This record gives sequence, C-alpha cells and structure tokens, in this order.
Amino acid sequence: MSPPELLKPASFETNLVQVTDSQLARYARMIYDRTGIRVSPHKKTLLSNRLRRRLRETGIAGFDAYYEHLRRLRPNDPEWDAFLQEITTHETYLFRDEVQWDWFRQRFLPDLVESARSGGRPRRLWIWSAACSTGDEPYTIACCIAAGLPDLSTWEIRVLGTDIGAGALEKAEEAVFCQRAMHLVRPEHHRFFTKARDAHIWQAKPILRKMVSFRRHNLMEPLAEGPFDLVVLKNVLIYFDVTSKKRVLENVRSRIRAGGLLMAGAADGVADLVRDYQRIQPWLFQRPLAPNARSDRRER
Ligand SMILES: C[S@@+](CC[C@H](N)C(=O)[O-])C[C@H]1O[C@@H](n2cnc3c(N)ncnc32)[C@H](O)[C@@H]1O
Repeated sequence: MSPPELLKPASFETNLVQVTDSQLARYARMIYDRTGIRVSPHKKTLLSNRLRRRLRETGIAGFDAYYEHLRRLRPNDPEWDAFLQEITTHETYLFRDEVQWDWFRQRFLPDLVESARSGGRPRRLWIWSAACSTGDEPYTIACCIAAGLPDLSTWEIRVLGTDIGAGALEKAEEAVFCQRAMHLVRPEHHRFFTKARDAHIWQAKPILRKMVSFRRHNLMEPLAEGPFDLVVLKNVLIYFDVTSKKRVLENVRSRIRAGGLLMAGAADGVADLVRDYQRIQPWLFQRPLAPNARSDRRER
C-alpha cells in the first residue's frame, strides 16, 4: 500500500534521535483527531521510539514521510492499525480493579436475578465493554455471569467487547491468557478456563466464549448496537482531554438504557461530566430513568 516515492531504504533517519517539536505537534494533532487521545509534549522520546519501529517495518525513510503516508491512507488501512497499536496502551488483565467485580458479583447480579424473579425485568442482560483491549474485561464479565447467574441457559446474555485496535481484538478472539493476566482470577473460576499442559497459558472455555463477541469500534463515533444494561468504560478516558471525553460520553450515553449503569475507571475523571446520572460509587453511575419508567420497561 505504500506509495513508491516514500519507500527509500530505511536510512539514517530511523536512527535519528527524536521527532522535532513541530513533527510532534503534527502527529499529536493527527492522533487526537483520529482517536481523541491527547499526546503530551513530554512524550517526545516515547513517540519517537514508537515511530522508529514503524519506519523500520515499512522502510519509509523519515518521520515526515511516514506522516504524509498515514495522511493519505484510508482509516481502515492495516498500517493505521499498526500505528495505533504502537501509540495506544493496551494494559489489561482479568478482574482488574477487583472491587468493581466484587460489586458486580455481590450486588449487581443478585439484584438482577431478584428483579427477573419478581417479573420486574426480562431475563435479558446486555453489557458493553468499551475499549476492551485484548478482551480480559469482557471475559471477566462472562466469568462472573457463568458463576453467578442461576439458570444461565434461560437468559439472553450478550457481552460485547469493542476496541479501536484490530491487533488487540484478534487476541481477544483467541481468548488466550498468560499467567500474569490470570493472576487475580479466583481458584473457583479456574474451571471456566483450560490450562495448557506444562505451559502457563490459559484459554477461556466455550461457556464464556459463547457469551462474548467482539467488534472494532472507535469511541469517537456512535455505536449502532444497544441499548445496554451496563456499559464498562475503564482506563481509556484517562488519555483523553475534556472535549473528547465529552464526545465519548455523549456517544455512550445513548447506548445505555434509561436506568442502566456506567462503570468507569477510578482515574478516568468522568464524575463531573455525567452530573445528571446518579452517582452510586465514585466509579459507578446510573443513567436517569425515563420520565415515565413504565414505558421504559416496555421499551426493554
Ligand atoms: C489501557 S486499555 C484498557 C483496557 C480495559 N478497559 C481495562 O481497563 O483493562 C485502553 C484501550 O483503549 C483503546 N482505545 C484507545 N482509544 C480508543 C478509541 N478512540 N476508541 C476505542 N478504543 C480506544 C486502546 O486500543 C486500548 O486497547
């Protein structure tokens, strides 16, 4: 896909120390426009190192040439994926932020079961794990559901994981986790994973995989699916400025059913931006019920 004029032999510039201030500013603008992520001016070394890897891989001779190359590519070109893979942080593991999953297991699921039993809601649970990286978060949700929801087969369960990174989603589809990703998984949940013999590798069993599906999605754009009972949006808005946080939260809001919940990361700084939601925990917010709660129930 690379235009020939850009394909000079990977030359001296791949060894050059750093992007200049103006190159950094141009890349930062492009990354921001595409993803909402704010690249700080202090990240010169980091950005340079990541870009150098792309220059080596593509054989493109310099930071400016690579910038022009990206600018000309369609947003779904594989090189954009590779670039985004370099500049985004994918840190994740199962049961990350345990206190939130304790709430999910001990409060959310029992309340849901009780409400369904009393006829207050259908046996339907839709959850969106937005910016799910390699899928550890949606599999955590599926694991809690498999362990905590009686009569599982009578429920319509959907756990949708989305991310902007195609590479991360490929890994998510494989449902394979290393020992580090598994370190917070309780022994009683190990039965939902197969452990490769003599290897510290685990794979989610079909009971979890059946609940989970993945799809590429940029949070800066609206999602077509929903509405969801719970949207989990953790450890991503921390990289966004207020303007792009607002845009994401607006997109997310319409995908949470009235009375549904938003789970954020403790450091994501969303509390001031969802003031009309009811704050249940510092990281948990309930979207207001529709003025006529009965009609909302019918809607679900
Ligand atoms: C640090 S991981 C968080 C993973 C998981 N939510 C957790 O808390 O463990 C951040 C993820 O956000 C994704 N991301 C960054 N910008 C995005 C955007 N504009 N739309 C969708 N995903 C995005 C990255 O690709 C990365 O996988």
